[in-house]
Amino acid sequence: MTGEIITLQVGQCGNQVGREFWSQLAKEHGIGHDGLSLQDDSPSEIREDHAVTFFKQNDSNRYTPRALLFDLEPSIINDIRNNFPGFFNDRNVWLSQDNLGAGNTWSKGYDYGTENQDQFINMIDREIDATENFEGFQLIHSVAGGTGSGLGSNLLELLADSHHKKLVTTYSVFPSDESEVVVQPYNTMLTLRRLIEDSDASVVFDNNALSNITARVLRDSNVSYAQSNQVISTVMSSITNSIRFPSYMFSSLPSIFSTIIPTPDMHFLVPSFTSFTTDFIPEAKTLKRSTAYDVILDLFDPNNSMVTQNSDDPVYIAIYDLLQGSVEQSDITRAILKTQKRIQFAPWSKSSLHVNVGKKSAYNKTANSDYVSGLMLSNSTAVNSLLKKTCNSFDAIFNRGAFLHKFQNGRVFEDGWDEFKESREVVQSVIDEYTYAAQDSYIDDILLEDNMLVGNDDNTMNINDDNNII
Ligand code: GTP
Repeated sequence: MTGEIITLQVGQCGNQVGREFWSQLAKEHGIGHDGLSLQDDSPSEIREDHAVTFFKQNDSNRYTPRALLFDLEPSIINDIRNNFPGFFNDRNVWLSQDNLGAGNTWSKGYDYGTENQDQFINMIDREIDATENFEGFQLIHSVAGGTGSGLGSNLLELLADSHHKKLVTTYSVFPSDESEVVVQPYNTMLTLRRLIEDSDASVVFDNNALSNITARVLRDSNVSYAQSNQVISTVMSSITNSIRFPSYMFSSLPSIFSTIIPTPDMHFLVPSFTSFTTDFIPEAKTLKRSTAYDVILDLFDPNNSMVTQNSDDPVYIAIYDLLQGSVEQSDITRAILKTQKRIQFAPWSKSSLHVNVGKKSAYNKTANSDYVSGLMLSNSTAVNSLLKKTCNSFDAIFNRGAFLHKFQNGRVFEDGWDEFKESREVVQSVIDEYTYAAQDSYIDDILLEDNMLVGNDDNTMNINDDNNII
């Protein structure tokens, strides 16, 4: 049986993205915004979906998200509660007493986490008690503000500490180039260290790429966060499609991630998506009737990537695609052959593109059933653009000692700024690992070291048998 997944949504961005994610899941599982099933859920009715991975179901046909909501100021969560009355479990909402927010400062968010850790452990344990075959956590946040980054980092440490055998996935939003707040590079650097050390898989987005994609999909240059968040929720719902509508392949998150993550450090996954049908974005304007062949090839277009790419062609380590719609197997085979000639794989990798065909929900009233759409999750050197950009912005202020006073009361900075220096080193080591992974010698020097292989270590994921390559 597919195991249950608990979602933690933290800060403004985390909760706003979470709102779109739950809205999409409710639509795909025929659940109203009050949590009541819109379908006949009588025992005689056989459902194809597996909503209980993400929802608790009670006897009166009410579905409650397995979600924990955290924020340091109440406006976003109150707004969500008003729009989804009775949907979330009130006991799963944590708001700070003083309602001040973290003022875009990582250390404030982090310290709130330390002060309230016992309460968080209770909330998490209570939610785990309501599962039968608990699989793991997913955390949604932005890396650049104070709450999603600082409190999010604290929660990641807590999960790694107390549930280290469970899978932790993050959906992490990086800031746009027009950084609104000068200390964003500090917040991002400190959070990146926790993504590297305390998560098993991080799916990354940047707000520049998200705005460009959203503007194109809606044919409107003025896009809101709510609209960009639908793009993120499209990725999240697609990654979990074969878990919520299970068949014999890729029916658990570990089976997907172990296919594309070769070593614990290289766990940054860049999503691409095309085309955004009304299944995901009801106002989508750029509908294109494509075959699976077109979609698989289009997914390599940098314009469809949710992380801005620099001019270098990425070297791919592994790729996973999830297609939905009317898909011909022969189109998939043709596209794989074409792709293998066209893109550069790391010399030691198997040059394989893993393609999974998902199922469309029968309950989704806004679906375009004939259209093919596809998600690509790639593990490649492309993520170095994002990591290097963060390092450059960080170096520019840290080397001059600029704006450090905002962090001086933080507990991890009581003895100086070593935490910044160490975080910078940890991030550099991942950049170096990705760079090295593009070379021939990588496999001999690193991958064969037993303890680096995924599956040979207690801290790594459980690979199960549906690790198929088409
Ligand atoms: P504090 O405001 O300091 O308490 O922390 P926070 O984590 O609540 O802040 P927030 O989530 O607003 O993080 C700021 C960063 O997230 C900036 O880079 C924003 O551009 C980005 N951001 C904020 N809300 C959203 C959202 O709903 N969607 C997206 N894509 N980005 C967002």
